[in-house]
Amino acid sequence: MNSILEVKDLSKTYRSGERSLTVLDRVNFSIAAGDTCAIVGPSGSGKTTLLGLCAGLDRASSGSVILNGVRLDNLSEDQRAEVRNLHVGFIFQSFNLMPTLTALENVMVPLELRREKNAARRSMELLEKVGLAERRNHYPTQLSGGEQQRVSIARAFSNQPKILFADEPTGNLDEDTGAHIENLIFELNREAGTTLVVVTHDLELAEKTGRIIQIRGGKIAYDSFETGSMQLRP
Ligand SMILES: Nc1ncnc2c1ncn2[C@@H]1O[C@H](COP(=O)(O)OP(=O)(O)OP(=O)(O)O)[C@@H](O)[C@H]1O
Ligand SMILES: [Mg+2]
Repeated sequence: MNSILEVKDLSKTYRSGERSLTVLDRVNFSIAAGDTCAIVGPSGSGKTTLLGLCAGLDRASSGSVILNGVRLDNLSEDQRAEVRNLHVGFIFQSFNLMPTLTALENVMVPLELRREKNAARRSMELLEKVGLAERRNHYPTQLSGGEQQRVSIARAFSNQPKILFADEPTGNLDEDTGAHIENLIFELNREAGTTLVVVTHDLELAEKTGRIIQIRGGKIAYDSFETGSMQLRP
């Protein structure tokens, strides 16, 4: 398998003072380039934590993440930022747009970090794709939740990532807007051949991907890749 993402014996323990909480306990899986995969599990089971570790936003307590052939655990903060900028798109549960930048400027950020020449033109194309060309000069507070999420999708695709992580991309949206956003993600994903890893509570969305991984109690409780069936355990 040509893996874009390899997770090996990955553990994460949060410590605060005397107390410690092991959220992920020796998790293992790999994802092939171009695949789509959903991560499901109860609230607090560590889905956001896992996504953050896979994307190099945070550091594991032990074990390793190999992203596009690069082992993230030994890298500095700056080196991880560089890997993210080169290969990773991230759609956050809460949009995470920069409040002082317009819609267009938000989409341009990853491209400007790479000093790309055609940042404005490419960002406009993406805003058009998500149906927001008209709102390019609006600030996040002037946009609805669904519009902000569409800006964040355009931003996530702007650096043409090899792998896109989406954390509950439709969790804060009404059903129709959510369905529209989902279609956008899958469409952009197909066009660009991006690998997609999406965290969701929505089993219908999960079933639109090629693989479902369920985490519970810090471990993988189910992986359709292992069983060959998309039927989740109750
Ligand atoms: N920075 C942190 N410091 C301490 N504990 C944390 C931190 N981040 C998360 N946790 C704890 O780790 C556990 C897993 O959190 P995480 O956000 O990964 O869960 P989740 O599966 O994404 O949940 P949800 O479905 O509600 O988004 C939770 O118990 C949470 O309180
Ligand atoms: Mg979460």
